[in-house]
Amino acid sequence: MKILLLGKNGQVGWELQRSLAPLGELVALDRRGHGELSGDLANGPAIMATVKRVKPDVIVNAAAYTAVDKAESEPEVARGINADGPGVLARAAAEYGALLVHYSTDYVFDGSGDQPWKEGDKTHPLSVYGRTKLDGEQQVHAAGCPHLIFRTSWVYAARGGNFAKTMLRLARERETLSVIDDQIGAPTGAELIADVTAHAIVHARMAPALSGTYHLVAAGETSWYAYARFVLEKAREAGVELKTPLQAVAPIPSSAYKVAAQRPLNSRLDTTLLQQSFGLSLPGWEAGVDRMLTEILER
Ligand SMILES: NC(=O)c1ccc[n+]([C@@H]2O[C@H](COP(=O)([O-])OP(=O)(O)OC[C@H]3O[C@@H](n4cnc5c(N)ncnc54)[C@H](OP(=O)(O)O)[C@@H]3O)[C@@H](O)[C@H]2O)c1
Repeated sequence: MKILLLGKNGQVGWELQRSLAPLGELVALDRRGHGELSGDLANGPAIMATVKRVKPDVIVNAAAYTAVDKAESEPEVARGINADGPGVLARAAAEYGALLVHYSTDYVFDGSGDQPWKEGDKTHPLSVYGRTKLDGEQQVHAAGCPHLIFRTSWVYAARGGNFAKTMLRLARERETLSVIDDQIGAPTGAELIADVTAHAIVHARMAPALSGTYHLVAAGETSWYAYARFVLEKAREAGVELKTPLQAVAPIPSSAYKVAAQRPLNSRLDTTLLQQSFGLSLPGWEAGVDRMLTEILER
């Protein structure tokens, strides 16, 4: 099997380099590409030429415009990368008979209610980022290629910046912290996403009827506030000195934290379809965050 991976240095892309390696020949590109191969999702003709040259059996697109607030002021750039780029990839996949794996987000929903969103629920994005990601999903469907679209949420990785690292830094510097407690979701490790992706590719290649959209998040749910407390508690147990005592972490509503893009309050995603279709059992979010913390605190 030959696999073309785009966005190899992002949180998920980095882990995919590891998890996809045993499946076959892996051609992994970042935005700059390699030699005559382009990895720039904003450059449709170059992406089309790259697929034609590589002739992959599977294309995995981990590249995206993920600056959620910045997207509000540059919607066309976000659209090019999150919607039109995946559209080109999907048409190339259809033309060359490849399976396309693509990632989307809980931000395609408006966050109403308190029930986990199912794949077929009505979408209604609140932000430019959410709208461009939904448009990307629709362009993939329209191209008619075999595909797996995984909607995920609250992605973290040990590599690069993440919410836990920000909380740890702030708790070392400040005596009090305020953290949003009315957005509910599941922190999901890039490692988990990458491992599930590799497993799903093997299955989907044997059973093309599995083509479709799936929710992929760790099990359980939390708020950013409870997530922050979890991180600080673990750090304290590991002997890290923090200025912020746990009781000085204050819950605040989203309305008290001004950002450019509106986030959904209910980011719960129902993963039943993924677990049943691919014979998987998704672990609780705490296990992955604990593991990531062990990794970053031991450095
Ligand atoms: N992060 C989250 O919380 C979250 C939540 C839900 C869904 N998702 C989705 O999950 C997927 C993976 O996200 P992630 O967290 O791994 O994102 P990430 O860490 O921000 O990585 C995205 C990668 O895309 C690359 N990229 C940006 N513009 C590009 C272009 N024009 N051509 C090629 N590459 C480009 C970036 O490269 P540079 O570093 O060079 O810009 C970066 O390496 C995305 O589809 C995202 O929408 C993420």
